[in-house]
Amino acid sequence: MASPLRPAWVPLAALAAAVASAPALAQTKDANVAALTEKYRCTICHDATETKAGPSWADIAAQYRGNPRATAVLVGVVKKGQHGGGPWPMPPLPEVPDADAMAIVRYILATKAPAGS
Ligand code: HEC
Repeated sequence: MASPLRPAWVPLAALAAAVASAPALAQTKDANVAALTEKYRCTICHDATETKAGPSWADIAAQYRGNPRATAVLVGVVKKGQHGGGPWPMPPLPEVPDADAMAIVRYILATKAPAGS
């Protein structure tokens, strides 16, 4: 009798090959920016797709889609804080360097909600 494990390995290997051939640079950059959101503790209040104390990255991206000033506005929010309509304010985080704030904001604006939400 053939091992039941064997057929499962074939598609897995194909998947690994597909992932390896995807644009490696973009993946590394995203991973680095995700690490920055941990370092500056954005993730205490924000999640990629779920609303926590602050709005999800996907919601922010949807709200600012098509706004040519989005990056400038949001870098300002990160550094100076904001109290909009929500129950909690976004604290000012002036310690985040401009380059890091810019990278994080670009990453936020590229975040998409999962299909079906
Ligand atoms: C203590 C909790 C907290 C932390 C830490 C925090 N945020 Fe926020 N953030 C919020 C809240 C709450 C809001 C919504 C504020 C409002 O109502 O205007 C918000 C809003 C935002 C917005 C959206 C502004 C808008 O106009 O829609 C961005 C972008 C953002 N945060 C980015 C960040 C980044 C990047 C970090 C880390 C460097 C961070 N936040 C850390 C709580 C937090």
